Amino acid sequence: MADADWVDVGEEAAPRARPLTEVAARGARIVITSAEGRLGAIHGACNHVGGPLGAGRLDGAYVVCPWHGWKFHATTGVGEPGYEADAVPAYPVRVEAGRVLVDLAGATPRRRAPHPRHPLARPVERAPGPVRVVGVSTTNMSRRVPRFSTSEALLETALEHARAALGAETQLIRLRDLSFKACEGYYSTAAAACTWPCTITQFDPKDQLDRVYEAFVHWADVILVATPIRWGAPSSLYARMAERMNCVQNQETVAGKVLMRRKVAGFVVTGGQDNVLAVAGQMMAFFGELGCQLPAFPFVAHSRGWSAEDMENNVREVRASEALRDGARALVDRAVTLARALLAADEVAPFAPGGRKGNAADGPAT
Ligand code: FES
Repeated sequence: MADADWVDVGEEAAPRARPLTEVAARGARIVITSAEGRLGAIHGACNHVGGPLGAGRLDGAYVVCPWHGWKFHATTGVGEPGYEADAVPAYPVRVEAGRVLVDLAGATPRRRAPHPRHPLARPVERAPGPVRVVGVSTTNMSRRVPRFSTSEALLETALEHARAALGAETQLIRLRDLSFKACEGYYSTAAAACTWPCTITQFDPKDQLDRVYEAFVHWADVILVATPIRWGAPSSLYARMAERMNCVQNQETVAGKVLMRRKVAGFVVTGGQDNVLAVAGQMMAFFGELGCQLPAFPFVAHSRGWSAEDMENNVREVRASEALRDGARALVDRAVTLARALLAADEVAPFAPGGRKGNAADGPAT
């Protein structure tokens, strides 16, 4: 063992007065803990993705990371029961003449248990094969009493055309069939607390938004999103999905990684009230921020306006409209043509991500 290297980190009174006190000792980020009447010292960076343990809280003898809740013993640094293979460095502590001293040379080693990598975390590489189109229907309805959805019907028309006429692989995801949580706002704690894969996806095996992430990031070349207009906005299921896509967009701004490349997005917007342009506009902006490109005329839409409250006639009109179905087919035609052009261009000059915010760390997605 190295010779002791005691460093004075301040008066005893301060850490005695509160459970966790972060101090700097020769550049090392140390948390002085005061748990159950005993002072301890552990490193301030969490094993998970570096959360600030000094900004956490005490739960009995354990320090709880403020980002995602991992726990480490306040004096030994060892993970909570069941996770002892993880440990943050712990340091010997003593008090002399009212001063707290920490032995930096006496640190225990940081140990990281082998946590299996989530399948979504694999490198983003397009598998060979025909162009692939995913359609996401964001309308909600009762399973017991299903109804006709104008937005979903037009989406299905587009997907059928992509499969039968364009030779594309297709899949349809109905968000209402998935059980998934609303975003829990880790980003609002700290930008780096918003992880890829999504923290919820990593921690909750029952959450099913992984299917959307898989399709968007790893599978599709073309993403078609269909929504009804609900009080002038996209559907609530769309909003819930969009919030959860924050982790994809954040990778560009926080980590310099572009997860969605060479993708094309198009939209289907139908509604009993107006506001088509506002709904389509925010969807275009959002998918642009995810890294998607838009074809010319990037959406097909239908609305009879604010005063058309006779919804059955809206439905009847869409069902009868060959022009709208043609519009859906033409939309996916343009989207697939653009996707093929992007894929071909990529073979000549591989995609070079350049972050919107000009991140110096831009590089290949991993
Ligand atoms: S639990 Fe600490 S960074 Fe995630």
